[in-house]
Amino acid sequence: MKKQAIQNNNTYKCWLMVSVLLGMLCLSACADITVGRGNRTDSQSLQPVTVEEVSVRVPGMEGEKRFLYLSDLHLIVESDQVAESEAETVHGRVGWSSYDGISAADSWKQWVDYLNKEDTEGVLLGADMVDFASEANVSCLKAGLDELEHPFMYVRADHDTAPFYLDGVTNEDSKGYQDTITPNDEVMLWEYEEFLIVGWNNSTENLSPAALERMKEIFAMDKPIILLTHVPIKSLVDGSLATQSKEAWQERELTWGSGCYHYPDAVTWEFLEMIYAEDSPVVEILCGHLHFTWDGWVTQTVHEHVFSPAFERCMGIITVSGE
Ligand SMILES: [Fe+2]
Repeated sequence: MKKQAIQNNNTYKCWLMVSVLLGMLCLSACADITVGRGNRTDSQSLQPVTVEEVSVRVPGMEGEKRFLYLSDLHLIVESDQVAESEAETVHGRVGWSSYDGISAADSWKQWVDYLNKEDTEGVLLGADMVDFASEANVSCLKAGLDELEHPFMYVRADHDTAPFYLDGVTNEDSKGYQDTITPNDEVMLWEYEEFLIVGWNNSTENLSPAALERMKEIFAMDKPIILLTHVPIKSLVDGSLATQSKEAWQERELTWGSGCYHYPDAVTWEFLEMIYAEDSPVVEILCGHLHFTWDGWVTQTVHEHVFSPAFERCMGIITVSGE
């Protein structure tokens, strides 16, 4: 019995040591996991996965100006404004616009922290920042923009202003939520000494006659124009944009132009002709909408960059200089 007891005691000591060792291993593994989780949700830690850089040359310009670009974040905060029949769809879309297990709404707070650390003249927001215009979604976006320490130009598109998936919310309600952020002017303008940044607001819709007149005044200012629009402009010289759009979007060419899903009325056609003109002041078009990247020429002189979506952690950096 005594021998058995000693054996049991030795066995006990052996298990104790194994347990302690296992415990230490477990602790270090748990610590790694904690650090990993900490890094992922720490508001300081968001890094864009892709940075798409665009250089715009303005002959004669001294120094350089740097802008940041985000679009297509499609953030969603589930709320009781969502129609019961759409709740499952909306929940699925939260997953679709999440990245690495973090919803677009949660990543937005981290994006703002990240953007605030960047040196920039301003942030260009190329629309579809929210997935639909509920009070909760727009409030979440606004809370981030209230914390943003840079000027921003926010052009909207249908997802920013329409009450998709909602119950009892009108178009006017949705547009009212958006107006709490900034006035929803049809044409936006940042004027610099050497160039202009011009925003075509709500470019999922045709341009209004009043907006066309405003565009004509701006084009007559005789400065190079960087055009911010959600929907890209069809290329007249490179068919690859149309091909890629049709591949990604069930045979639809989701750009403005002839034969496109966004088919212009007479007013918008006139605006497109101003962009396509040989002496067009437009030097660069910055846009999103397609959820893939494309970089190329719309005409011989007008360049266009389509940015990947922010819900995939893509950010743009636009550098404007004389070089
Ligand atoms: Fe989008």
